[in-house]
Amino acid sequence: MKIASALLAENDFLTADIELKRRSGLINKANILLFQFNGRVYAYLNHCMHMQRPLNCQQDAIFDRERQRLRCSMHGFVFEPETGVCLSPVCEGQQLQPIKLIEQDGFLSLHDKQAEIVAIYRCGKELI
Ligand code: FES
Repeated sequence: MKIASALLAENDFLTADIELKRRSGLINKANILLFQFNGRVYAYLNHCMHMQRPLNCQQDAIFDRERQRLRCSMHGFVFEPETGVCLSPVCEGQQLQPIKLIEQDGFLSLHDKQAEIVAIYRCGKELI
């Protein structure tokens, strides 16, 4: 499944469920964040390293009030949007896991050919 780039406005975000097929036949499932920041689209595993929670677990939001940093809604740790590096003291220097995307002809897809987007969400509601 691909995501129309037009679905992501500046400082907007979507989440998506992905499946990664292993050579063994096992399928790993994960949830990712996708957002546009300063005109570029970024994606990370939706998994805060502090207490292993999705960044939007308490509120349907991933940005701080100024919309300049990612912010985990659980305890408020903040991250650089461009790198996923945590700026909060407890996890300082640790990084959200980036997910490589390909943007082509107005659509976003995962770079990893073994991985597939299986569901897309906005405000917790499935889009497709
Ligand atoms: S779980 Fe994210 S800041 Fe604590």
